[in-house]
Amino acid sequence: MSRISSADIYRTIILLVIILVSCRGNVVSAATDSEGLKTEKDFIIHTRGEKGCVTQQCHVQFLKREEFPHEPASSGACDACHNAGAYPARFGIVADQGPVCAGCHQNLDKEIKDSSFVHGPVRNGDCTACHNPHGSGRQHFLRETYSNLCSTCHNLKRQFSGDSVHQPVKDGNCGLCHDPHASNYASRLTDVGANLCVICHEEMVEGMTMDFIHAPLVKSGCSDCHDAHSGDSSLRLKTAADKICFSCHEEKKNEISQYARKHEPAEKGRCVSCHSPHFSQRKYLLLDKVDTLCFTCHKENSSWKKRRFQHGPVVQGNCSACHNPHGSDNPYILRLAFPHAFYSAYEKGEYDLCFNCHKEALVTTAKTATITNFRNGDTNLHMLHVNQKKGRTCRACHDVHASDQEDHIRTEFEFGSATIPVEYIKTETGGRCVPGCHSERGYDRVKMVENRK
Ligand code: HEC
Ligand code: HEC
Ligand code: HEC
Ligand code: HEC
Ligand code: HEC
Ligand code: HEC
Ligand code: HEC
Ligand code: HEC
Ligand code: HEC
Ligand code: HEC
Ligand code: HEC
Ligand code: HEC
Ligand code: HEC
Repeated sequence: MSRISSADIYRTIILLVIILVSCRGNVVSAATDSEGLKTEKDFIIHTRGEKGCVTQQCHVQFLKREEFPHEPASSGACDACHNAGAYPARFGIVADQGPVCAGCHQNLDKEIKDSSFVHGPVRNGDCTACHNPHGSGRQHFLRETYSNLCSTCHNLKRQFSGDSVHQPVKDGNCGLCHDPHASNYASRLTDVGANLCVICHEEMVEGMTMDFIHAPLVKSGCSDCHDAHSGDSSLRLKTAADKICFSCHEEKKNEISQYARKHEPAEKGRCVSCHSPHFSQRKYLLLDKVDTLCFTCHKENSSWKKRRFQHGPVVQGNCSACHNPHGSDNPYILRLAFPHAFYSAYEKGEYDLCFNCHKEALVTTAKTATITNFRNGDTNLHMLHVNQKKGRTCRACHDVHASDQEDHIRTEFEFGSATIPVEYIKTETGGRCVPGCHSERGYDRVKMVENRK
């Protein structure tokens, strides 16, 4: 398409001034409205006369060069669109402009025809609802700024409701996410799923390659949880932050509600204090090592790490081996039974927690030379202490997390309101214990110790 030079314009103007008189008769009221032309013949003369359309008197507005001119209009190819055959249509413009525009814009036309989702006005060939066909002061000759353009047909209350409008929406950059004409994705999005968002949220790109990606991100991208337009907070979650996880994980909600003991952050729906809603290198989308997570809230317990001896699972940071981070029916959200008292009448099942990893024979075999080192000769002192009516519980002697004494023997225990120190002396073949409550007692696996009653 060739541009018209200023010389062309000059020549045309001279010519048209000469034929001004004959032209004037037709133009009077028709300059802006073909209805002033009474017959089809009038219209044909009007559009086809050798007079041309743009003169000092006729359609003078076209003499002004727009900042963004549309080539056929600025070059005087008015009849590319104004078609006498279309008479009596207003301005000689066919209602469905699609084919007219497509005549020159073949690439776009093909793109539209190949797409599954075509925008209503495009489908109707109403191209000029958005574009000024003659050119304008805006790029792509848009009739309005981007966001005003959309609101001429759409009520965008919902898109702009709430305190926090997403930056690109606020900026009116609807086109970054929506193709104004057509695309292969619902709502005519410009890309599919998470791609739509990570174009700008580059910090998420790396995450999308991690070993564990939350199912909704893979399936439908980000919009299951975030509203792309606006919301009550900067995160624009579609459901309140403390309910959003439950909105899909109803099974967890039910599970937690049935526990006698509920772990507070889980009960309150603060799942994201332990889980990433997006992705993780750790199983179950955990944000960090389990113990690190626990210690962020249970700060005082991080001192366990400084003790000389830590219990196997604690060394591994595996707090959830014993505690169910969501809740349980046992005290201290323990996964299995374990008595909290100092004394407890022995019952089978009572120490399931410990016997998940250790052998139950520890407390059920009276005489042994192998099952436990806590024996005097072959008398199993574990059985003696634990397996009786006034049984001592494991925690009477052991600290289940960590201790400064060997064999995880605690340095003190609480008895009623008193705190009683315990001193444990380990020997080659046995040990001695000096609790604050009674005199020293000893045991020896080789040479049985006689303790005073
Ligand atoms: C690309 C197609 C196209 C070209 C080229 C074009 N027009 Fe139009 N014109 C239209 C359409 C469509 C309308 C209908 C009103 C609207 O949508 O703005 C229109 C409306 C008009 C109107 C009436 C309303 C108004 O905006 O004043 C006049 C007058 C007019 N055109 C003159 C011209 C002249 C003169 C030329 C050539 C210099 C020209 N047009 C070139 C498409 C075109
Ligand atoms: C006679 C051929 C012709 C017709 C008919 C035509 N155009 Fe164009 N159009 C062009 C040319 C030439 C350009 C400038 C080159 C380009 O950018 O593609 C252009 C440019 C455009 C642009 C700007 C492109 C850009 O990248 O900024 C838009 C928007 C546009 N036309 C819309 C329309 C619409 C809407 C119609 C139908 C009402 C239409 N055109 C009809 C030839 C035509
Ligand atoms: C709902 C408004 C709207 C309608 C209807 C519409 N366009 Fe557009 N068009 C736009 C916007 C907005 C842009 C700017 C592109 C962007 O920012 O993504 C554009 C860009 C263009 C461009 C230049 C860039 C490109 O994609 O090639 C052409 C050509 C074009 N439109 C032609 C058409 C034609 C032809 C029709 C009718 C079949 C049409 N438009 C209907 C809004 C619209
Ligand atoms: C001329 C009127 C008009 C304009 C202007 C307009 N739209 Fe639309 N839009 C419609 C109509 C009619 C529909 C419904 C038909 C359909 O499914 O496309 C629609 C549908 C949509 C849909 C799909 C809704 C859905 O549930 O799938 C989106 C998204 C949309 N428009 C975005 C935009 C954006 C962004 C703009 C601004 C660039 C815009 N529209 C400008 C008329 C318009
Ligand atoms: C950051 C990407 C993004 C931007 C920017 C964006 N949208 Fe959307 N829009 C979406 C997504 C994603 C959907 C699909 C609906 C959903 O799942 O929330 C959508 C849906 C829509 C719909 C149809 C469904 C509905 O909510 O009614 C309309 C209309 C719409 N957008 C208009 C706009 C307008 C107008 C703008 C600019 C002011 C805009 N959008 C900017 C991503 C975006
Ligand atoms: C055109 C670029 C762009 C696109 C596309 C985009 N965003 Fe944004 N987003 C931003 C900008 C800019 C901010 C505000 C700056 C910030 O707080 O990081 C933002 C902020 C956010 C925030 C708030 C972050 C915070 O820490 O408060 C969320 C959540 C968000 N976007 C989600 C999405 C989702 C979901 C999509 C896809 C539907 C998306 N974004 C697509 C540019 C974009
Ligand atoms: C399953 C729901 C869900 C999905 C799906 C989801 N998010 Fe989020 N997103 C959240 C929640 C919940 C938060 C708040 C996390 C917090 O408070 O620690 C969040 C926070 C964010 C933030 C703020 C910074 C951060 O990392 O905490 C951004 C940005 C963000 N999301 C973007 C995205 C993008 C982009 C996608 C898609 C790739 C996406 N989200 C998918 C639920 C989701
Ligand atoms: C849109 C629905 C949806 C939302 C909202 C949602 N999830 Fe999911 N989530 C799923 C699906 C689907 C799976 C995969 C199927 C499954 O294992 O149950 C999954 C899996 C998980 C898993 C991994 C389970 C495993 O066995 O590996 C965790 C952990 C998880 N989600 C936590 C969360 C958290 C935390 C939130 C809130 C920020 C949340 N989910 C919100 C749908 C959702
Ligand atoms: C205190 C940290 C913490 C909180 C809070 C938490 N989780 Fe977990 N969650 C974990 C750990 C640790 C695992 C690993 C499983 C294990 O070791 O038993 C897990 C596992 C899961 C699993 C997969 C295995 C299973 O038990 O089903 C899902 C699903 C899950 N969590 C969802 C949630 C949801 C939903 C919430 C919020 C109601 C939530 N979590 C709150 C720490 C937590
Ligand atoms: C987001 C903060 C937070 C995180 C993370 C957290 N907790 Fe808690 N936990 C609490 C709160 C709050 C309570 C209730 C008040 C209290 O007893 O301190 C609690 C209580 C407990 C209790 C006592 C429960 C009862 O029924 O008496 C145990 C045991 C516990 N948490 C273990 C853990 C373990 C193990 C982890 C790591 C998997 C963990 N917590 C992670 C906040 C947290
Ligand atoms: C071998 C099992 C086991 C492991 C592993 C374990 N705990 Fe415990 N935890 C218990 C038992 C048993 C109790 C109850 C102690 C009692 O009855 O006095 C308890 C009590 C607690 C309490 C509440 C009382 C207190 O001492 O503050 C917290 C908090 C706690 N554990 C956190 C953790 C954390 C954090 C980890 C990981 C570093 C962890 N636990 C690992 C068994 C375990
Ligand atoms: C998840 C498995 C697991 C559970 C449950 C468990 N333990 Fe252990 N325990 C170990 C491992 C592994 C070791 C060896 C490493 C060490 O010395 O801590 C060990 C060692 C011990 C030791 C020290 C042995 C020595 O030779 O010094 C004691 C005492 C002990 N556990 C007591 C308990 C008690 C009491 C319980 C119940 C509250 C319990 N354990 C529950 C895994 C477990
Ligand atoms: C009266 C104090 C006391 C009680 C109660 C007690 N233990 Fe021990 N336990 C010890 C002593 C002392 C040792 C160290 C034996 C040695 O190595 O000389 C020990 C060692 C252990 C060991 C290391 C393996 C072995 O048997 O030598 C395990 C495991 C153990 N105890 C588990 C338990 C469990 C489980 C309970 C509760 C069912 C429990 N203990 C109750 C004092 C006690």
